[in-house]
Amino acid sequence: MSTTRPPQASSPGVPRSDETDIANPLTAGLERLPVHPTTLVIFGATGDLAKRKLLPALYNLAHEGALPERFHLIGVSRSDMPHGDYREMATEAIRSFSRREPDEKVLEELLDEVRYIPGTFDEDSVYDTLGKTLDEFDAAAGQVLNRAFYLSTAPSFFPVIVEALGRHDLHCHAEDAEVRVIIEKPFGTNLAEAQQLNREVLSVFDESQVFRIDHYLGKETVQNMLAFRFANGMFEPLWNRNFIDQVQITAAEDIGIGSRAGYYDNAGALRDLVQNHMMQLLCLLAMEPPVNFSADEVRDEKVKVLHAIRAPTVEDVAQMSVRAQYASGVAGGDPASGYLEEDGVPADTNTETFAGLRLAVENWRWAGVPFYLRTGKRLARKVTEIAVILKPVPHLAFRQEGSVGVAPNQLVMTMQPNEGVSLSLGAKIPGTKMRIRPVQMEFLYGTSFMSQSPEAYERLIMDAMRGDATLFTRNDEAEAQWRICDPIVRAWADTPGPLPQYAAGSEGPAQAQELMVGDDQWRAI
Ligand code: BG6
Repeated sequence: MSTTRPPQASSPGVPRSDETDIANPLTAGLERLPVHPTTLVIFGATGDLAKRKLLPALYNLAHEGALPERFHLIGVSRSDMPHGDYREMATEAIRSFSRREPDEKVLEELLDEVRYIPGTFDEDSVYDTLGKTLDEFDAAAGQVLNRAFYLSTAPSFFPVIVEALGRHDLHCHAEDAEVRVIIEKPFGTNLAEAQQLNREVLSVFDESQVFRIDHYLGKETVQNMLAFRFANGMFEPLWNRNFIDQVQITAAEDIGIGSRAGYYDNAGALRDLVQNHMMQLLCLLAMEPPVNFSADEVRDEKVKVLHAIRAPTVEDVAQMSVRAQYASGVAGGDPASGYLEEDGVPADTNTETFAGLRLAVENWRWAGVPFYLRTGKRLARKVTEIAVILKPVPHLAFRQEGSVGVAPNQLVMTMQPNEGVSLSLGAKIPGTKMRIRPVQMEFLYGTSFMSQSPEAYERLIMDAMRGDATLFTRNDEAEAQWRICDPIVRAWADTPGPLPQYAAGSEGPAQAQELMVGDDQWRAI
């Protein structure tokens, strides 16, 4: 077992909170929770994710004084370069992508001792050097440090790295230090691969050492769903089939695939967003209240939701799913090409850039309530939201009075961009007549907490270093997500194209409406 101690005043590279913006008790900064001294090793240290997300997240943690008292960073990647060049590259990445302007002193202290190990991930010499470097940091600290291995590489290297860590005895350490492995998405590209990867990872590490990333779980607004549902007594009595008519989960993006054709054309919208992020949103919305917020209690409840969703048959897939590709159009006022014209995309590909599903959670709470999910690239705007649409009132007495747009109450939790929660209510339009129209009651993060939320990766890196797996996907959870999505992927692969198209910058394909039951309509994006 590791011992944890509160950070002390003079940590190398880490300013204390009095120099930072955590002073305001209403702000959402990451509090300085105790973290055992740690060496973090990033595999894929020169990749896009490391540059755009991981290094800036580490900088912001350092800036807030949230990193452990002793913290070391080692980068491993294929490009051959000396430590100094890697330090330069990391500095540049932080300057370009950090959510706050970096303070030169914090930056320098964070990266002062950074080490870089070049090599391919199957080379023994890489792990020999890594082992020596880790031991050197321990010796300099005069104590055994925890070790965290972050696999931010192409997924095909996950098993290679895990096996090599095991072979070089780096999966365990002295008795009083913890070794953890953080694995990026995608966790397999189908059920069989996820099962195989789980077997490989768990033949080296214990499940308690494994942290499978789904960055949506690190978003403040996603975690707020738990607070919202379980810290407020008023919603629970309504949270079931008796009051809720339908649930719509939308993860719309205005961007196209950019330079990611190689990855995206093999993945598609279903694997890229539905199988992981959207399934997690659905679970948090539909789960039963956990007994407490420990990692396993929360994850047990999420897994139960996934078990309540039947894996679709081939016939079901045709009824409950829609896929499409963006065609050319206008995005953000500029002309945008269609998916098939994007660089690196094969002209005859049937990969979907839009996926829509209708799922049923077959348990007492949710029987009969449709859960509609949709995600797509190049839609009208970026918005991630969950809309819980309540049943209409049983009798509308105001119809004849010229009411405008009387509609069932909608509770909308917006994850991005205007993070918050809004409830639509019918209200009387001022005047002599009894006329009704919907108005919004809103809670907005920005105004209530007056601060910028931390980036998802800040929270997740900290939690992994602290050994708190609540916001990470467990082995059975990852497989249960695939159990639902895999039959859809397979049925789609067996159905010839071409796919329906939707104009870039639009609300998505008209066919998405076919998923809706009765008079249900998609909310505008
Ligand atoms: C990633 C997907 O997991 O999530 C991307 O691979 C997508 O395609 C991104 O753009 C969306 O994340 P966010 O945090 O911008 O909603």
